[in-house]
Amino acid sequence: MPLAATTILICAGGACISAGEETVKQALEKEIQKYALNDVVRVVETGCMGACSLGPLMVIYPEGVFYQKLTPQAARKIVEEHLLKGRIVKEYLYKMPTGEVIPEAVEKLPFFAKQVKIATRNVGYIDPMNIEEYIARDGYFALGKVLKEMSPEQVIEEIKKSGLRGRGGAGFPTGLKWELTRKSKGERKYIVCNADEGDPGAFMDRSVLEGDPHTILEAMAIGGYAIGANQGYIYVRAEYPLAIERLNIAISQAKEFGFLGENIMGSNFNFDIEIRIGAGAFVCGEETALIASIEGKRGQPRVKPPYPAQSGVWGCPTVINNVETFACIPPIIIKGADWFKNIGTEKSPGTKVFALAGKITNTGLVEVPMGITLKELLYEIGGGSSTGKKIKAVQTGGPSGGCIPSEYFDTPVDYESLQKLGAIMGSGGMIVMDEDDCMVDVARFFLEFTVDESCGKCTPCREGTRQMLKILNKITSGEGTEEDLEELEHLASVIKDTSLCGLGQTAPNPVLSTLRYYRKEYEAHVKEKRCPSLKCKQLIRYVIDAAKCVGCTACARVCPVNAISGEVRKAHRIDNEICIRCGSCIEVCRFGAISKVSP
Ligand SMILES: Cc1cc2nc3c(=O)[nH]c(=O)nc-3n(C[C@H](O)[C@H](O)[C@H](O)COP(=O)(O)O)c2cc1C
Ligand code: SF4
Ligand code: SF4
Ligand code: FES
Repeated sequence: MPLAATTILICAGGACISAGEETVKQALEKEIQKYALNDVVRVVETGCMGACSLGPLMVIYPEGVFYQKLTPQAARKIVEEHLLKGRIVKEYLYKMPTGEVIPEAVEKLPFFAKQVKIATRNVGYIDPMNIEEYIARDGYFALGKVLKEMSPEQVIEEIKKSGLRGRGGAGFPTGLKWELTRKSKGERKYIVCNADEGDPGAFMDRSVLEGDPHTILEAMAIGGYAIGANQGYIYVRAEYPLAIERLNIAISQAKEFGFLGENIMGSNFNFDIEIRIGAGAFVCGEETALIASIEGKRGQPRVKPPYPAQSGVWGCPTVINNVETFACIPPIIIKGADWFKNIGTEKSPGTKVFALAGKITNTGLVEVPMGITLKELLYEIGGGSSTGKKIKAVQTGGPSGGCIPSEYFDTPVDYESLQKLGAIMGSGGMIVMDEDDCMVDVARFFLEFTVDESCGKCTPCREGTRQMLKILNKITSGEGTEEDLEELEHLASVIKDTSLCGLGQTAPNPVLSTLRYYRKEYEAHVKEKRCPSLKCKQLIRYVIDAAKCVGCTACARVCPVNAISGEVRKAHRIDNEICIRCGSCIEVCRFGAISKVSP
């Protein structure tokens, strides 16, 4: 690896690439060339640094200066000022919501200061396509340690002692899963990495695969050694082409370096990894459906038991772990179970990566110790509401999760506490909602997703979720009745109790949690035919305040259905029989004369 006085890490994660990272990098490299700085400045493209809403972004080391919202012009200025003259370019530093520009060093930014990075420790810091950079940060040291110094039983014991729980949703103890699989009888065993990541809004697994693929290979090899498997599969969705490309590169590099293949590091342990590409069905993330899909069959769940630990891929004992779970394994082996246990809470040790999305200032990925409160997560790290309106609720756990109202934001984020509130940790998706979000509509949105994604194998999920959606559509269009609310609850409990797999068993959660905390909103829709958040189109009207309207005609000109009439310089009117509630008129009215009302 060449040594350089200055290293520029430029984020090449999906969000930054979409925001124009490539042109920024080209401008940067051209300018570096122009001033003949190639020998002293190194530009490294990394995986997602987490602060996706600020991209394209880069960090200049050794100073650790964080530049955001970059353009090719910004890149040129940074070379001329920062690299040549040693002057920080203030206009591209991070600005606080107050406009204040304080922190220059990346670790002082509020977004990063409270984070503790274990699973994403290398993401955003190394070139994911260079195995030497991974090795330089202790990469493959844990694999060497287990092969040279530990028996498979000792590895399992260490993971058990660490208290690591599966990050794929259910929080099952990883060490116990490995032990059960090791003890299962079988000629061959397999280890599988679940990189299906289907929750809307979640992208932490993709970020690890794209930003630090070697950590997954190393962890799978450690797991293979522990349970007695010589073959691993990574099941990754086809929508993640960059992750697939980087995994393929990492696999061939690891083989070249003798970290995969026969007699790894001179031991008698052989281990190989193959990639299996999924077509993107949400249900294929469910472990038995995933196994069927790996075997080339239709991706549908089956009854458990037998569990994969007893009968998994090709009927052999199999461990299936999530990407983030695997990413925690090498540091646990190197630093020890006690180190890991000291982070987080007693029952939920370690950290969790969350994808912050929705009405929050700092959208992106954050890794925090378990036990952090929702308030700290959403306000101190997330920067609070992005709309200026009060945050009303946060939806955790994706379509299997629930909505937590702001009154409960002092709750620590751990598996048990979230479950008590009727939500779940899930894979770590967090969607923030403000006062403009209708909770009945939110429940409808998630249920629509599960209806689409139900594989149809069992009746309660296939038919029941459809019936629930029908009722929610009725309610949001003002045709719901009080009996419908009872029917929703009844259907929810039947579907939860009788569905075959986790998809159906958890599909009613968003409806149940919103009914629990926002029943008044449901009742307003049903009894008063009113949507308090002014969201449900069929329950709102657009009106023009004659006292404020100056008759500028701007609204009438944008209305796509000619629903607005009135003479120039005279108050206008909206015909709500014609209006399709597109909202264009509100946006163009400069006098604040148009508003929504319900009913
Ligand atoms: C419908 C459904 C979708 C799932 N999708 C995923 C997924 O995308 N990634 C994942 O790791 N686990 C997913 N799971 C959980 C897996 O079945 C399994 O519990 C997990 O991969 C085990 O790994 P862990 O113990 O490391 O969490 C899903 C479960 C269900 C019911
Ligand atoms: S619960 Fe839904 S997704 Fe799961 S097997 Fe039944 S129909 Fe398929
Ligand atoms: S909401 Fe859309 S359709 Fe309705 S009056 Fe305004 S511009 Fe026209
Ligand atoms: S993609 Fe660049 S910070 Fe997330």
